[in-house]
Amino acid sequence: MTEQQRPVPATGRASTPFTLFAAYMGCLTLAMLAACTRQPAATAESTPPWPSPTWPLPTDPAIEQRVRELLTAMTLEEKVGQVIQGDISTVTPDDLRQYHLGSVLNGGGSAPGNDEFAEPAKWLALADAYYAASIDRSGGRIGIPVIWGTDAMHGHSNIIGTTLFPHNIGLGAAHNPELLGRIAAATAEQVRTTGIDWTFAPTLTVPQDDRWGRTYEGYSEDPAVVASYAGVFVRGLQGEPGAPDFLGPKHVISSVKHFIADGGTENGKDQGDAKISEEVLQKVHGAGYPPAIEAGVQTIMASYSSWNGVKNHGNRYLLTDVLKGRMHFGGFIVGDWNGHGQIPGCKPDNCAAAINAGLDMYMAPDSWKGLYVNLLAQAKDGTVPMARLDDAVSRILRVKLRAGLFEAGPPSKRPLAGEFTRLWSEDTRALARDAVRQSLVLLKNEDGLLPLDPHAHVLVTGDGADNIGKQNGGWTITWQGTGLTNSRFPHGTSIWEGIRSTVAAAGGTAELSSNGSFRRKPDVAIVVFGEDPYAEMLGDRKVLALPITQNAHLGILRKLQEQGIPAVSVLLSGRPLWMNRELNSSRAFIAAWLPGTEGGGVADLLFRGPAGSPSRDFTGTLSYSWPRDATGNPLNAGQPGYAPLFPLGYGLRYAKGGSVPSLPEDPGVPDSLINAGFFLEGGSPIAPWQLREEGGATLRAEPVSDGVQQIGRRFVSRGGAPVRIGLQGQQPLDAQREANGDVLLVLRLRSGGAIPGDLWMSMACGEGCAGKLTLGPQLRKLPGDQWQTVGIPLKCFQAAGADMSRITEPLAFGSDSPFDLALARVQLGTNPPTTLACP
Ligand code: BGC
Ligand code: BGC
Repeated sequence: MTEQQRPVPATGRASTPFTLFAAYMGCLTLAMLAACTRQPAATAESTPPWPSPTWPLPTDPAIEQRVRELLTAMTLEEKVGQVIQGDISTVTPDDLRQYHLGSVLNGGGSAPGNDEFAEPAKWLALADAYYAASIDRSGGRIGIPVIWGTDAMHGHSNIIGTTLFPHNIGLGAAHNPELLGRIAAATAEQVRTTGIDWTFAPTLTVPQDDRWGRTYEGYSEDPAVVASYAGVFVRGLQGEPGAPDFLGPKHVISSVKHFIADGGTENGKDQGDAKISEEVLQKVHGAGYPPAIEAGVQTIMASYSSWNGVKNHGNRYLLTDVLKGRMHFGGFIVGDWNGHGQIPGCKPDNCAAAINAGLDMYMAPDSWKGLYVNLLAQAKDGTVPMARLDDAVSRILRVKLRAGLFEAGPPSKRPLAGEFTRLWSEDTRALARDAVRQSLVLLKNEDGLLPLDPHAHVLVTGDGADNIGKQNGGWTITWQGTGLTNSRFPHGTSIWEGIRSTVAAAGGTAELSSNGSFRRKPDVAIVVFGEDPYAEMLGDRKVLALPITQNAHLGILRKLQEQGIPAVSVLLSGRPLWMNRELNSSRAFIAAWLPGTEGGGVADLLFRGPAGSPSRDFTGTLSYSWPRDATGNPLNAGQPGYAPLFPLGYGLRYAKGGSVPSLPEDPGVPDSLINAGFFLEGGSPIAPWQLREEGGATLRAEPVSDGVQQIGRRFVSRGGAPVRIGLQGQQPLDAQREANGDVLLVLRLRSGGAIPGDLWMSMACGEGCAGKLTLGPQLRKLPGDQWQTVGIPLKCFQAAGADMSRITEPLAFGSDSPFDLALARVQLGTNPPTTLACP
């Protein structure tokens, strides 16, 4: 199974006849000619040597024959529908039938009946409903089976109860392609139980700037590691090309993503622009694609991002000439979530440029209906050449035929369907636990503190200790992985639970505490902390340091140090972070990444096993360089000036080395950069935001404390005059992508009495630019006198007039009537317990 780490072949340039044909087809119309000439020059002289992998599936005459027959029989409407994918939150089976849609997806957070916690049987039933609608031949319909795509990012990660593996960053640290193949195969089976055909995985990004919010979706900053995993993972999902069970009943269709250089954008900005040479594009960011193509990957997702200012979704040179031509990719290219709408001149529901550039299937989650209408007109008037549409449809049909969808019958009747216990089987849990062990990287082990003696009295603390949601990060049940209590993981184990059972089995004792206090002085403390879950742009950071909202562990570590209790730090994070203070105050330090649902895997390496048990040790090593300061130094191995704190490949074993010299504790960057995206914490504004309280004698503002520290700020108005409280800043915040992604302004607040009906809240964007909402009627329905977390969709403020691209006042509120309202925290977020509706 083990695939050699393959260097990217640097073969000479060549134009296959296919490339030339495809280029010609793409430029057929006059309109397209203009677009074609704008593409980066792809002349024979300037083309750098893209590799030329072999597509492993020879042309199959029987499949080609069926494709021809289908194409001949399909109406134009059916062809147009076939290239469109809608999201299950907006497409009913009836819509699918009526608009002939070729595919559906469940985006992050979309679920049957809009219930993210819907049990697996509901997913399977919905798959049946879409399938039945798709094959309906009444009224002369052709009846082509639908394919359903999902983000099984670390296991079948949208389904409650599923055993989830470490995110890719942890798997990268394992440096074990064979393990990856087994995880892929297990994931395919999980997906199959719910009747789903297709996963948007694996991500083959090669992140070069860890400030990017999707760093954890990448195996490594090192292209060689990504290349060594790509093929084996695709084969684990799809099976071996040529083998009888290729794309068979135990396998699913894979989509590698996001083509290309999603991890190469300037400043690590999600959906940003990769300003890099074609050589870097190919050698660094392209490294995973040749092995994936040689493994016969059936679909490739285009990246939201741009290459030197051109959006990939509209880049005919990259999609058509390079990927389908030069690299012989014989599957179909799917778009990313409304990604086509970002091409200049396009909108989510109107974008001929994308298909003309080589996109084969539009991911049009909520825009599918308008897109269908427009695309139909564009196919009729020739804006989309018929040959291009036929090519896109043929590519999709080939994938469906190879996967046997035409003969497979209803999803619930296929092998593995409904066998939900496979989602959390003993075997899968053991595999995931093993993957956790292999993913942990030991960065410090002073005086050989680890392995710990399990007979000791152990304190387990930190906000990640008993928090399976935090262990799992984003893309876990919900899109952002937020809003999940342990009860949402019925088969998961927190790190605390893993430690408790290990210690109990050995005859030791363990106690859990949220704030580092203890009933009995421990021999050792394990402090689990790190990043709260995020996905995509919500994880973008200005610098590589934990924001103030996630720093409670620092106080705990210092206190333990004062008390002479040795501490082991366990960091949960989606990227390397500046951890100098934590390294200084811990005797041992483990980078645990985002280990998934098997928290027991962490305990396995913390403690010495009982006599006679298998001897274990750390084997993981860094697949990302560890930063020396918080600036987010984007230098990576091989670049001049590379000077990380811990280099690529670093990782200790129990007996190997262990101490780290005392490190400077100044992050080297201002707090305003560390806390970007957070506006208020503990009732105090987070720099650079300032709190402006207007109301004169009518308003009384005072700190709220829990007896130890300030936790909020209370605003009491006597009424009779306008009162206005605003969080303001000079530097405008751009929250446009967040607004598109259904992010909310999330407030932790407490009302101490009736809220007046005229209480308003707003987001503002400079003089005369604001979105103001009257929220009193909704807020007054919430229980009083208790802290609660409430979210208001950014889209509500946007609809009311706020320009989300330049927010200078992320929150203001006020009333002319009496009120009593305390605020603890204000930030952008998702999945709050309570969401207010746009009034
Ligand atoms: C969807 C995600 C998607 C994101 C794109 C969200 O609303 O649920 O699946 O990736 O938007 O920004
Ligand atoms: C993400 C993709 C994902 C898609 C569907 C997008 O926003 O970028 O990685 O596959 O949503 O959820």
